Amino acid sequence: MNRLQDRLVTTLDGSASLMHRELQELYHSQEGALWQAQNLYLGLSKLEQAFLNQDNIAILDVGFGMGYNALSTISLWLQGDGNTQVSMLSLEKDLELFLAILASENPWQCLMTKNWPKLLHALKAKNPQEYTALFHHPKTGKTFAWTLRFGDALLMLKTHIASDSFDIIFQDPFSPKKNPALWSKDWFANLARFTKRGSLLVSYSVASQVRADLAANGFICEKVPCPGPKKSWLRATKS
Ligand SMILES: C[S@@+](CC[C@H](N)C(=O)[O-])C[C@H]1O[C@@H](n2cnc3c(N)ncnc32)[C@H](O)[C@@H]1O
Repeated sequence: MNRLQDRLVTTLDGSASLMHRELQELYHSQEGALWQAQNLYLGLSKLEQAFLNQDNIAILDVGFGMGYNALSTISLWLQGDGNTQVSMLSLEKDLELFLAILASENPWQCLMTKNWPKLLHALKAKNPQEYTALFHHPKTGKTFAWTLRFGDALLMLKTHIASDSFDIIFQDPFSPKKNPALWSKDWFANLARFTKRGSLLVSYSVASQVRADLAANGFICEKVPCPGPKKSWLRATKS
């Protein structure tokens, strides 16, 4: 059994998630890994409208994991009119997991994701810690530049040099209790360096400490009602 197969869990929409052995935490909502990516991360960040109305969008994908958020984003862009030029930076510390996903035929075990292996295999290693892919939109030729960087997200963000801010942040580490560094004041202060007025951060944790730390860094937090056991998700807008 490989690293993936022995811990795959089927979620309620039929898509596969993983159980992290040491943390004993699922990578996605039990309601559906694909459902969560499409309805919560993409839906609450208003990505579909952004792809209609904005010429350029920069996305930060925190915790690439099995790639649901990143690959759903690329799929949505490919299905649209192709009016937007996109750059997306995915951060992940677990290179071994990525290599296991690359080696697997369809780790997501879901019919709707049939073009995902192709998208993933478009990534080419620039060096052992960085993979990149460039997609051209079939209707307009506009580009989607994707970078997947391996290492500790906090360190990577501290040393990140970007001329542009991120418009959208998918804040998807493990829970604040089990993955505290990526919910710390230091983390949010670093995130805030790469945002501008109107940038959106979406996450599943509505914990009061998380909202307070975001507010301290200039984000206005909303608890957005959502279906499923969590009842509400977090959308934070940079003021
Ligand atoms: C909840 S899962 C993310 C699921 C993912 N967004 C998806 O769409 O499939 C959390 C991910 O964060 C990664 N992670 C945790 N701490 C990290 C850190 N300090 N730096 C980078 N990645 C980290 C974990 O390895 C894991 O893959």
